[in-house]
Amino acid sequence: MATIRLGDAAPDFTADSSMGMINLYDYLGDGWGILFSHPADFTPVCTTELGTAAKFKAEFDKRNVKMLALSVDGVASHGEWIKDINETQHTTVNFPIIADENKKVSTLYDMIHPNANDSLTVRSVYIIGPDKTVKLIITYPASTGRNFHELLRVIDSLQLTAYHKVATPANWENGDRVVISPSINTEDAKKIFTKGVEEIKPYLRMTPQPNI
Ligand code: BEZ
Repeated sequence: MATIRLGDAAPDFTADSSMGMINLYDYLGDGWGILFSHPADFTPVCTTELGTAAKFKAEFDKRNVKMLALSVDGVASHGEWIKDINETQHTTVNFPIIADENKKVSTLYDMIHPNANDSLTVRSVYIIGPDKTVKLIITYPASTGRNFHELLRVIDSLQLTAYHKVATPANWENGDRVVISPSINTEDAKKIFTKGVEEIKPYLRMTPQPNI
């Protein structure tokens, strides 16, 4: 297992899931992907996370992001757990959960952190771009459930900054003003960002979000 860093190719794999065998690259096609791990089936925080993820699926779809969850239990266990998730979270789990019983994928993606827990995965999040490289990695401990609004927010930032020479400032939300890349001088920035450029400092230039 090699360390995966931002910009690296996302390791491809084929694994069984709650929706049958899945090959990562085929599943992603030419879209974006989010791969997120859960410590184990039938655990409370994971149950709320997967229910929430299911309710957010339309938002991920809108952004052309394929969802793929993972837990180190088997397909039969996932099937029973999904019934509980649907019942308790009032939703329908509508994306695959990898059955990583042999820990092949969690090892490949360094999702087991032995000093936290030597057998269960932590809550890893990998966002993968259409070029199959890793665009974002976040790691939460088992005791902290993820904020799916934040995951959509970072995807909005990644998708904006992939196509425009801007970066998103602290606490940015879709629609807010953005920062112009330091690689563009202010004279050029004024030609590119026709909605306006505010130069607060030579290195700090703001412009309305270019893609709305
Ligand atoms: C949970 O999902 O609730 C959980 C899983 C492992 C350890 C702690 C909490």
